[in-house]
Amino acid sequence: MTATTPSDPTVLPLEQKAQLLSGQDFWSTPPVEAAGLPSVVLTDGPHGVRRQVGDLDQIGLLESVPATCFPPAVAVGSSWDPDVAERIGAAIGVEARAIGVPVVLGPGVNIKRSPLCGRNFEYYSEDPLLAGVLGAAHVRGQQGAGVGASVKHFAANNQETQRMQVSADVDERTLREIYLPAFERVVTEAQPATVMCAYNKVNGVYASQHRWLLTEVLREEWGFTGAVVSDWGAVDDRVAALEAGLDLQMPGDHGAGNALVVDAVRSGRLDEAVVDRSVRRVAALAGYVGEPTDGFDADAHHALARELAAGCAVLLKNDGGALPLASGQRLAVVGEFARTPRFQGGGSSHVNATRVDDALTALQATRPVVFAPGFTLDGSGDAAELREEAVGLARDADVAVVFAGLAEGDESEGFDRTHIDLPAAQVELIRAVAAVSPRTVVVLSSGGVVSLEGWHDDVDAVLAGFLLGQAGGSALADLLTGAVDPSGRLAETIPLRLADTPSHLNFPGEQGHVRYGEGVMVGYRHFVTVDRPVRYPFGHGLSYTTVETSDLQVTTTGADSAEVAVTVTNTGSRAGRHVVQVYVATTAGPVRRPARELRAFRKVALAPGQSETVTFPLDRRAFAHWDVRESGWVVAPGEHTVQVGRSATDVVAEATVTLAGDEIVPELTLQSSVAEWFEHPVAGPQLLEGFLATMPEGAGEMHAGMLQMIGSMPMRRFAADFGAAIPAAELERLMAAAQAAR
Ligand code: BGC
Repeated sequence: MTATTPSDPTVLPLEQKAQLLSGQDFWSTPPVEAAGLPSVVLTDGPHGVRRQVGDLDQIGLLESVPATCFPPAVAVGSSWDPDVAERIGAAIGVEARAIGVPVVLGPGVNIKRSPLCGRNFEYYSEDPLLAGVLGAAHVRGQQGAGVGASVKHFAANNQETQRMQVSADVDERTLREIYLPAFERVVTEAQPATVMCAYNKVNGVYASQHRWLLTEVLREEWGFTGAVVSDWGAVDDRVAALEAGLDLQMPGDHGAGNALVVDAVRSGRLDEAVVDRSVRRVAALAGYVGEPTDGFDADAHHALARELAAGCAVLLKNDGGALPLASGQRLAVVGEFARTPRFQGGGSSHVNATRVDDALTALQATRPVVFAPGFTLDGSGDAAELREEAVGLARDADVAVVFAGLAEGDESEGFDRTHIDLPAAQVELIRAVAAVSPRTVVVLSSGGVVSLEGWHDDVDAVLAGFLLGQAGGSALADLLTGAVDPSGRLAETIPLRLADTPSHLNFPGEQGHVRYGEGVMVGYRHFVTVDRPVRYPFGHGLSYTTVETSDLQVTTTGADSAEVAVTVTNTGSRAGRHVVQVYVATTAGPVRRPARELRAFRKVALAPGQSETVTFPLDRRAFAHWDVRESGWVVAPGEHTVQVGRSATDVVAEATVTLAGDEIVPELTLQSSVAEWFEHPVAGPQLLEGFLATMPEGAGEMHAGMLQMIGSMPMRRFAADFGAAIPAAELERLMAAAQAAR
């Protein structure tokens, strides 16, 4: 289009304004020449640019322009390193500008509620702090390169089963503490250009028309100023969505929704000011449109993808120093994934990689290697024959490295898994190899967590690569050979059994509803609270060096905040990166708290012998719970223990502080219970005094017993029965006193 100076788009005719609020096609908004607005292309994301130019599809089946496939979120989550997320965001920004894409749809910060979710590979963690910090860093990087981001899928989109219809039934405390904070952090810290609403309903209302989510929480509480875009096809009632706060419907629906908007305004059902508000927000996206830049350095980005991927894989087990591989060892590499790597997930995020490294070639470049596929990705062929061939090679080698995992068809956007097992043929292969090989190392590639049961104890080392992007093969070789020290940590618990996971009985729901019955006890919060063993806990990850933690100091910095200082020392002989994990544990307050919750973390690089003192400010949110009675965050007065862990279950240092916290004067009504009245800090003592004055001698002792017996009785009924003892006027006076003290 010819460039014109943008003018106020709200002066356009209503029809044109309505048009601006939905896609002109699958991936772009319509240009409005009269207002000087160019078309804005929005495309996936999140770990690479998927720009389709020919035939279009939303589910990643058709080709797109080549772009670097960076490590997907499952890997970035395991890096515990915002620097990784930010550099990926920045590189995607550079590629998007070269390819002519002003808005790239990502990152996804939904919480991994169940290991079965088909899209867990696209999400960071089961922990909202980790997901939020990484998501905000990605947005900073991408938008710093001049390309708008879209944090998605807002909110409570934690499964693929029935994702377009299911109602995620979640209580408010759980939403506030688990499912919203990652979005909150991304919005408040990084102000993404857009937020993408989820397909599903939240407590019975489609996210696309959820006023509380899209307007009250997102804009009024968090201060979001960008545009809310629908997930592709998520709009059910266009007018209701617009009113609730959804600005842009994607993709377009050939004008049907626009006509409804125009009708609603003309008939007086919809205020035109609502249209204008969204028009301004969508028009602002034009600010990201620029002239395409002059390409990008594909080699440099591939090298970056390799460097970053190596910081993501998690060394789960390394008995007897099986890794790194020593030079001179005879090495047998087994498993189809070694030469046909699994490096990204299926669905809308599928990137047409500029090139793909495989671990076999990368290892062959460092030493002589013998290879056998061991299995086929689609289960075809003679499993016994393939296994025997691999076992034969392993028998004659000093060490066997088995590349196992899930094939692309086993997990994807669009459906959830029904189990977390590796294919049986691979389990058999691992066991057979381990039975003959002096040393067996298993390298895992999968988007979701897989069970290690049935073979874990047979092998010496396990390296979880998850999905590492297009350079994952060479990054794995770097880790196996020790060129790079493993520094990933689990962002997600690996359970012993699927049935142990907290959402198990409520996943994926039934008859249109999925009840988040486990509340805030998601992931490790559940396991540490009920003290149930897991195969590997959240936060776990080994390195080739050793790190010691010392000198933990926790000092309060106010009634509801503290500062933590702790020293970490590399006591080994190799350089490494260590993740300091800070958890807070408390039983103070009126609600059941998880036994500990991650509240801060930092990845530090340490040369051999090097010490570093790391400090963390812990603000009030680090100690707070969402209090449904107060409709807000409350810090309970009392003891809060700060714990430094190597994982959620391995606490290496702790210190307790006493916080003054918030003085909550609860509201009192006649429906409040007798116990709430007597225990009330303002009304309680006065009530008791007046009550005892009218009672016979010895009533004081009776009081405690009475509270236990009838403490739950609403005061209205109690006062009616004991009317002479507590006159209505006195209750009115006390309620007013309580209110005045709030
Ligand atoms: C996915 C989004 C994606 C969109 C566009 C949807 O099916 O849920 O994450 O951005 O398609 O491809």
